[in-house]
Amino acid sequence: MRNHLSEKIKGRKSDHLDICLEENVQARKATTGFEETYLVHRALPEIERNKIDLSTTVFDHDFSAPLIVEAMTGGVNKAIKINTAIATAVEKLGLGMGVGSQRAAIEYPKLEPTFKVARKNAPSAFILANIGGAQLVKEYGVKEAKKAVKMLQADALAIHLNPLHEAVQPEGDTSYNGLLKQIKYLVHALDVPVIVKETGAGMSSEDAEKLEASGVAGIDVAGLGGTSWAAVEYYRAKRNGNERHLGETFWDWGIPTVASLIEITQSVHVPVIASGGIRSGIDIAKALALGASLTGMACPVLTHAFKGADELEKELRFLIEELRNAMFLVGADSVQRLQKVPVIITGRIADWLTIRGFDLRGYARRDLQEF
Ligand SMILES: Cc1cc2nc3c(=O)[nH]c(=O)nc-3n(C[C@H](O)[C@H](O)[C@H](O)COP(=O)(O)O)c2cc1C
Repeated sequence: MRNHLSEKIKGRKSDHLDICLEENVQARKATTGFEETYLVHRALPEIERNKIDLSTTVFDHDFSAPLIVEAMTGGVNKAIKINTAIATAVEKLGLGMGVGSQRAAIEYPKLEPTFKVARKNAPSAFILANIGGAQLVKEYGVKEAKKAVKMLQADALAIHLNPLHEAVQPEGDTSYNGLLKQIKYLVHALDVPVIVKETGAGMSSEDAEKLEASGVAGIDVAGLGGTSWAAVEYYRAKRNGNERHLGETFWDWGIPTVASLIEITQSVHVPVIASGGIRSGIDIAKALALGASLTGMACPVLTHAFKGADELEKELRFLIEELRNAMFLVGADSVQRLQKVPVIITGRIADWLTIRGFDLRGYARRDLQEF
């Protein structure tokens, strides 16, 4: 029975990787909102580009730059190569990484090496263990969460929320009642920070407030505008000969990353990770200026990681250079300063936030003269 389950999970995880590598599973009509968010250019930056400090400390961990590779894989053989490449690159660059859901290895310890390569190749980088909220409702508790953390000697545990993904896949777990209580229980039983993340549909301020009240140490936005899990399931169904699928209808479902980020940073005090469609150093700069403590990227990393650690390192270095350049052009010589530069939010994202009662004038009125 166990073997059968592990084979099913392995098959699904392998399909996910193949589809993300071979098809365009990015949001189609929806966007993150970064394109409607502006940083104010400085003709007089009054700083030296080469002296910009990108380092930051979050969750008591020192990062060389405010970037992590988001949770993606494990539990299939291909994951060994991918997680090794990601771990090697983030260790070299002083960044962080998540692994994919550890369910397969919790159920079937033979698969542990597909996750353990992360810590093996990144002895000092920030590593997030990962379990699903849906599993916490159904069958998992403190024992499984501790097992996931121990497997990686992880610095934190990420609990992923993916109601959209569960709702559009045939094997989906759609019982979500009682999860908040489980999260609260876990937070108090574990001795590492618990971070709750979405997976591409974003989170509202109301849900973020409930999570903060439950004691979580951080929230990862994972908003709409990047990878769409409805799209992944659409392609999975199509490959199995099923043309009409809920995944197509819900392809662009969710809260755009910028709207979600502002809702959450204005409502909670815990560190917020901005992710979901982060695709350049300019996106990273905008996210930090809007109050994120860290940023994260998943799908685009996959293609480079598949080619190896050197290729991925090159890409991540370029992303960091883009961030440095954006910081120079807004006159911010540190992450803390970037978090205080003026930001203008326009268009439908501004409409969304205004209708929801959030104040956007504060960002625009930040004093340029302070810098
Ligand atoms: C191939 C792949 C597998 C993923 N698997 C997981 C997972 O197991 N657990 C999880 O929390 N998130 C998972 N995610 C979601 C990402 O962590 C992230 O939240 C989402 O892809 C949005 O980021 P992006 O737009 O930069 O891809 C996965 C993403 C990809 C592309």
